Amino acid sequence: MLEPIADKLRQAKNIVFVTGAGISQESGIPTFRGKDGLWRKHDAMKLATIDAFYEDPKLVWEWYEERRSNILAAEPNAGHLAIAALEKFKPVHILTQNIDGLHQRAGSSQVHELHGSIITVRCTVCDFKDTITSSFPKLPPICKCKNMLRPDVVWFGEPLPQGVWNSAICQARSCDVMMVVGTSLAVSPANLLPVYAKQNGAAVIEINPEETPMSADTDISIRSSAAKALPELLSIFQK
Ligand code: OAD
Repeated sequence: MLEPIADKLRQAKNIVFVTGAGISQESGIPTFRGKDGLWRKHDAMKLATIDAFYEDPKLVWEWYEERRSNILAAEPNAGHLAIAALEKFKPVHILTQNIDGLHQRAGSSQVHELHGSIITVRCTVCDFKDTITSSFPKLPPICKCKNMLRPDVVWFGEPLPQGVWNSAICQARSCDVMMVVGTSLAVSPANLLPVYAKQNGAAVIEINPEETPMSADTDISIRSSAAKALPELLSIFQK
């Protein structure tokens, strides 16, 4: 099944990856909806909404700090590295729902973070924004302007960063191959990106150990983990 995908990649002028939590699962970062998924153990409405944050900022921050330290201790896996390596041969854009920064750490240069970044914080009032890789001595952290800082992530009910979303739509509409890797496609609007690609004639290829709502409409759907399939695909592509 990987040979026809490698062929499509060889012919492609512009390759787009849409990635989700599944690609980082083999780096030890839990997914949201899988067997040990975060949303099976935690209530998203109590941890990932602006109302939850104002109701109990310390609780929300503690949860993000724990995830942040896990993410900062994690390493990109063979899946992230294979995508980064593909960039040496073809233009590759990554539209990721992940907030973990692992695509960038693997060496990918064109990463569009649809749901923000857990490594960045921003002020709830002023326009302060910064990358913080150490832990905060006291939670919630406070800005120089004396208001609370928050993780620079998109919470449920919040819009995606407009510029990032516009670029993502452009990439989805102009690519000739879209690889959809490690996402359940359960969350809108990111789950529309493969639809835009398909409408514009791109080949849509999925890599996921489980079926998704899009599987039946993809050109090729591979039931495999990202860290296994992507390096294999890269080595066939290079032959
Ligand atoms: P999900 O947890 O919904 O889906 C993860 C997908 O990865 C599932 O389809 C799994 O089958 C697949 N998967 C698991 N292990 C894999 C592996 N090793 N290789 C490849 N695929 C694997 O995560 P997302 O689709 O990313 O948003 O979730 C989307 C959004 O929902 C997240 O960005 C987050 C969450 O709520 C916000 O917090 C706003």
